[in-house]
Amino acid sequence: MRSLLGDHVLLRLQQETGGALHQRLFHCLRNAIIEGVLPVKTRLPASRDLAREINVSRNTVLSAYEQLQSEGYVEARTGHGTWVSEHLPESFLNTQIFHPYKTTPANENYLLSQRGTYLLGHASASPYQWGAFVPGAPDVTEFPHHIFSRIQADLSREPDINHLIYSNAGGCVELRQALADYLRVARSVQCDTDQIIITEGVHQAIDLVSRALTDLGDHVWIEDPAYWGALNMLRINGLNIVPMPVDAEGMRPETNPTTLPKLIFVTPSHQYPLGSRLSLARRKQLLELAKQHSCWIVEDDYDSEFRFAGQPYPALQGLIPNAPVIYMGTFSKTIYPALRIGYLIVPKALFTPLRTVAAELYRGGHLLTQRALAEFIRGGHYEAHIRRMRLLYGKRRAYLVKLIQRYLGNFFLHEFDEDSGLHLVMQLPNTCDDVNIATAALQRGVKVRPLSQYYMHSHAHMQRGLLLGFACVEEKEMLMAFGVLLQCLKEAGITTLQNSV
Ligand SMILES: Cc1ncc(COP(=O)(O)O)c(C=O)c1O
Repeated sequence: MRSLLGDHVLLRLQQETGGALHQRLFHCLRNAIIEGVLPVKTRLPASRDLAREINVSRNTVLSAYEQLQSEGYVEARTGHGTWVSEHLPESFLNTQIFHPYKTTPANENYLLSQRGTYLLGHASASPYQWGAFVPGAPDVTEFPHHIFSRIQADLSREPDINHLIYSNAGGCVELRQALADYLRVARSVQCDTDQIIITEGVHQAIDLVSRALTDLGDHVWIEDPAYWGALNMLRINGLNIVPMPVDAEGMRPETNPTTLPKLIFVTPSHQYPLGSRLSLARRKQLLELAKQHSCWIVEDDYDSEFRFAGQPYPALQGLIPNAPVIYMGTFSKTIYPALRIGYLIVPKALFTPLRTVAAELYRGGHLLTQRALAEFIRGGHYEAHIRRMRLLYGKRRAYLVKLIQRYLGNFFLHEFDEDSGLHLVMQLPNTCDDVNIATAALQRGVKVRPLSQYYMHSHAHMQRGLLLGFACVEEKEMLMAFGVLLQCLKEAGITTLQNSV
């Protein structure tokens, strides 16, 4: 029977390419020592035993052991065998030993790549995304869980084999069909089933599009300010992010660009986080630019179902036939974030390449849940739930707006904000420090996000403010949390109309 070390060496030998066999064996053993697979003072197997286990000649093992000894990784004493040295050469060079299995509390990040370290430095997800005033959080308690679980239970009793196996089809076909029908009507999206790829949310969709359609160092235009999650996805994929300012008409793209982007990333229906809507003129401008320079517009349509007055604005994707637009949607806001189901609508030519890349990268899955979701949509429950939430969130938003008007005044309501979405922006004077205010509020249990942190650079058009989510907060809780916020504003020297709620 082979030892664990034998298995490890055999596996690593297959990955080592180039060089004589004894050299490759030396590398495998040295790495095993450096990585701690063979801890210090461990006895190496006798050369004859290891040779037999990994099916090489004894001389090959002896050569590798000799090199390990001459470089100081092992010590050998005649009659006592070969041992991993107590002091490895790396410790003399004063370099950190790469150790994939252990971290030290003093420097927990030292295992990370530069990319990983960079991403960690930009990590922004809150540890607990629920309560006043978490932006972008729907009221997950309002979802008709009893209906969804009944559908799931029915389907699980005798599951279709297609929903249990590996698949590279781009997600459950029934869900793709249901979505195509829904989106054509609800969002004026032009699509067929064979343009839809199911993803685990917008985050994964951005990752997929970035990896499949861009190369390291390519330029991507994105609104500034923007959603930090999108920025992080683009960053980790090595893209060159070019911020474009936002005004009341949405993204203000460069008219004579010096460097052309591969992707133009926009939130046209509800600019995140400021709330403006991309005007028709800008929509046409972007489409023209994308067609002219063969780049893709990536439309993140994350929360457009929630427009509380008037009709929802149609998607940019459907504005012209064969628009150079990749459309992204998510169930995170309409159902609940932990469902982790979203979708991409791609031009027909991109469907097969992208669904194949998706299968290679992520393998897909949760097909039974997707099937249940299809049934939920087909049965009319999805639209009914959205209608109900639109009413509820609309009322909660109106309540928050009233609080702001009454205790702070209209100046504090951001001018771009429209009657939609799951959050609003409370504008603050540009002289104040919104990060400090948000920190003070958090210390008292109220979660708000500082607007300035959504900007890529601090420049002239950067504004101060707080993002306040209202969807998952009942009015009573909202009132109490608002009182805390008011106190924080007062302590920051901001004049309020009334001192307490
Ligand atoms: C602008 C924007 N896009 C997308 C998402 C959601 O992404 P996902 O579908 O990965 O949950 C969010 C979540 O807050 C968001 O703010």
